[in-house]
Amino acid sequence: MAQEANLNKVFDQHVKLEEFFTGFSVKKDKPPQQPQKDIIAELNQLADEVKTCQKCVLGTTRTNAVPGEGNPNAQIVFVGEGPGADEDAQGRPFVGRSGQLLDKIIIAMGLKRSDVYICNIVKCRPPENREPRPEEIISCLPFLKRQLGLIRPKVIVALGAPAAKTLLETNKPIGQIRGKFFDYYFDDFSPPVKLMPTYHPAYLLRNYSHENRMKVWEDMKTVLAELGLSVPKR
Ligand code: URA
Repeated sequence: MAQEANLNKVFDQHVKLEEFFTGFSVKKDKPPQQPQKDIIAELNQLADEVKTCQKCVLGTTRTNAVPGEGNPNAQIVFVGEGPGADEDAQGRPFVGRSGQLLDKIIIAMGLKRSDVYICNIVKCRPPENREPRPEEIISCLPFLKRQLGLIRPKVIVALGAPAAKTLLETNKPIGQIRGKFFDYYFDDFSPPVKLMPTYHPAYLLRNYSHENRMKVWEDMKTVLAELGLSVPKR
C-alpha cells in the first residue's frame, strides 16, 4: 500500500513537471540567419575529430561519439555533463528523458531546439552513466572550448555541477552558484560573455519539487532578460 502511494506520488510529480513546461506557445519561425560558412566547416571538422578521438578511455567504450548540435549562430549554448545511453545510441545530445525535459524548457523560453546549440563537457558516454573522470574532462575540454569559441554565444547555460564546475574552474556546489551570472572568456582577447549555472534536467527529474522547478525557471528567465527576450505568456 505504502509503495503504491509512493508510486502515485512520483507519477503525480512527473505529470506536474510535464505540465509546467508544456503549454507555452511556440514562436513562429524567423528567417534563419545565415551562418558564416567557415564556422560551419570548422564545427564539422571538429565533429569529425570527436568521432575518431581516442584521447581517453571513453573512446574505447562508446557506441557513437556525441559532438553536439544546433544553430552555429546560437545566442545560447546549453552545456551538459556527458552523453547517456540514448545519446550514445544516436550520436546526438540530450535525446533521452533529460533531453525531453530540456526541449520543454527551451520551448517554455519561447525558443526552439534549432535556435540554440547543445553539447556536453565530455563527448563520449561514461559507462554506467557515471560522472566523467577528471582526466576524461581534461582530454575533452579543448573540443568544448573550440565549439564555444566558434559559436560565441551571448549566454552559456551550464547544466548541472560537472558542467558548471568545469567551465568556471570552481569546486563550489551547484546550489551555491546557480541563478547568478559568471564571466566566461573565450580567449585572452575578447570580452567575457555570461555563464549561467543551473540544475541539470536529470536532477530535476530525480528531485522533483516545486521549489527546484521554479529555480530553473527563474534562471532561464534571467537568461532571457539578459538577451532582451521577453518571457512568453502562458
Ligand atoms: N545528460 C547530459 O548531460 N547530456 C546529454 O547529452 C544527455 C543527458
